[in-house]
This record gives sequence, C-alpha cells and structure tokens, in this order.
Amino acid sequence: MAIKHFLQFSDFTLDEFDYVIERSRIIKRKFKNYEPHHTLLDRTLVMVFEKNSTRTRLSFEAGMHQLGGAAIYLNTRDSQLGRGEPVEDAAQVMSRMCDIIMVRTFGQDIIDRFAGHSRVPVINGLTNEHHPCQVLADVFTYIEHRGSIKDKTVAWIGDANNMLYSWLQAAQIFGFHVNVSTPKGYEIDQSLVASGNSNYTFFANPSDACAGADLVTTDVWTSMGYEEENAARLKAFDGWIVDAEKMKRANADALFMHCLPAHRGEEVAAEVIDGPQSVVWDEAENRLHVQKALLEYLVLGKLN
Ligand code: CP
Ligand code: NVA
Repeated sequence: MAIKHFLQFSDFTLDEFDYVIERSRIIKRKFKNYEPHHTLLDRTLVMVFEKNSTRTRLSFEAGMHQLGGAAIYLNTRDSQLGRGEPVEDAAQVMSRMCDIIMVRTFGQDIIDRFAGHSRVPVINGLTNEHHPCQVLADVFTYIEHRGSIKDKTVAWIGDANNMLYSWLQAAQIFGFHVNVSTPKGYEIDQSLVASGNSNYTFFANPSDACAGADLVTTDVWTSMGYEEENAARLKAFDGWIVDAEKMKRANADALFMHCLPAHRGEEVAAEVIDGPQSVVWDEAENRLHVQKALLEYLVLGKLN
C-alpha cells in the first residue's frame, strides 16, 4: 500500500482534514486538562532541519513527547546531509529507524525525493514552495474563532511564497476565496497553482485586496533562502504593510494572522499584530495541536 505523506496541502482530502481538525480539538482539550493522550507511545519522529526554526521544532518536539513518543532533531550542519549524503540514502536509513519524519528544506523536489525513498510517512515542515502545517493551524484557528471557513474571504498581502501557495490549495479544498496582492516582480508562479483553481483573485492594490475580507494575513518580505534579495524586496514592498488603514477595509470582525516570525514596521504595523483583531499567538499554539493530530493520523490512520 502507498505510504501517506503530507508534502503539500493538496495531499489530503476534505474528509481527511475534517477528521484531523476534529482530532485536533480533542487533543487540545486533553492537553489543556493535563489528560494523558499517549497514542504514539514509544514511537519516534525524526526532524530534519535545513533551515532555522523556533515554532516548528518546538511544536513537533513537544507534541511527540506529549503523545508518548520521542523526537530526534537533526540539522544539515551536524548530520551527513551537510557533507553531501544523498537525500535518497538519508531517507532509506532514517525511515528504517523511526516511525515518521518531518523535513524542513529548500526546494520541494528535495522533500519529494526524500519521501520517494522513505518507508514511513514524511511531513513537510516548510519548503520554498509550501508550508502546509502552518496553513492547517491557521484554518483550525479561523474555525475556532469564527466557525466554518467555507465561502469566507482571506486577503493575502505579500509575495507569492510558500504560505500563499498552501493558502491557495486550502482555498480549493475548503471552498473559500483568497484576495491576493503581490508587489510587482513577486507574483504567483502559475506552475505552482493547480489548473482550474478559481478560488483566488489578483489585486494590484493591497488595500483593495483587504476590502470585505474575513481574514487578513501576511508574512515576512524575505523568506528563508532569499536573504540576498532583501534590499530589493524592501523597495518593491513599499506600501504592502498591513496597517490599521488596511484592516479598516476588511470586515469589522476580520481576524489578522501571521505565521511568525514578524517584523513590526515592515510587513505589519505593531498596532495590527498587537491589536484586538490579531490571533497570532493562537495560530502559533495551534501548530502544536494540529500537528499532534497529523502525526497520529499519519502513523495510525483514523481512530475509532
Ligand atoms: N511559522 C513557523 O514555521 O515558524 P518557525 O520558522 O519558527 O518554525
Ligand atoms: N515564508 C517564511 C515563513 C517562515 C515560517 C519563510 O519561508 O521564511
């Protein structure tokens, strides 16, 4: 039987997401009540990081511990990956010693090759093209605060990056719309969007993209791996800050999200990220709960 991976958002059906979201709710409640929930007792997660992380590492490591298992952290610097061991070989070896693997790396092709040689499920903990775990946490956070996300409007203010591509996939699956405003030169790469995805609209003006939105979201102007473009991006993104004025264009009960880490005064004004519409700390916390449900589902399948 083919192994189930979570390499991009579109790897799961709506039915699978509905299950994972329901389990996330249950697991979150147990966590808050200090109720043991050791569904992955004695199982091992290997986490491979080729880029920096605070939230992803912490949420996977703490989550695996809370499920009764163990998590092992590897990075490029200390492992043989940094000395040129092929990912195909690394995947063979790691997947013989553990039950599930999370990878944070550069190109999506790397994680695809890794998964192709793994005997156990592989989770995308961020690539240049996708960040599905974060968008899963964000969708869960929206539902917790406002109920169903179906037919809602999400405004994306920023470049076409990993977060946006995962949002676009989520929109198609959950049936919501994304108003996208990217600066000139940082537009959507159509080869990364499923043909027939009509769940988004482009706006040249970021303020117009916020009009009528139920959720406004943005991200750093320079994603990991693109640091040498930083100066050019600072110029090109002038006007793309999410500030109080843009939030006023959105619906009165609109939420603000940011996957973090954030740069106040660049992509978001302090008054917004630290203001009453912001749910960024819930989003960060929910990484823990949804990823525990995801780990459990990928290792054990649906529980009765
Ligand atoms: N949002 C997110 O993935 O954070 P980290 O880079 O800290 O893991
Ligand atoms: N788009 C950002 C997300 C960080 C969590 C990056 O890739 O650096």
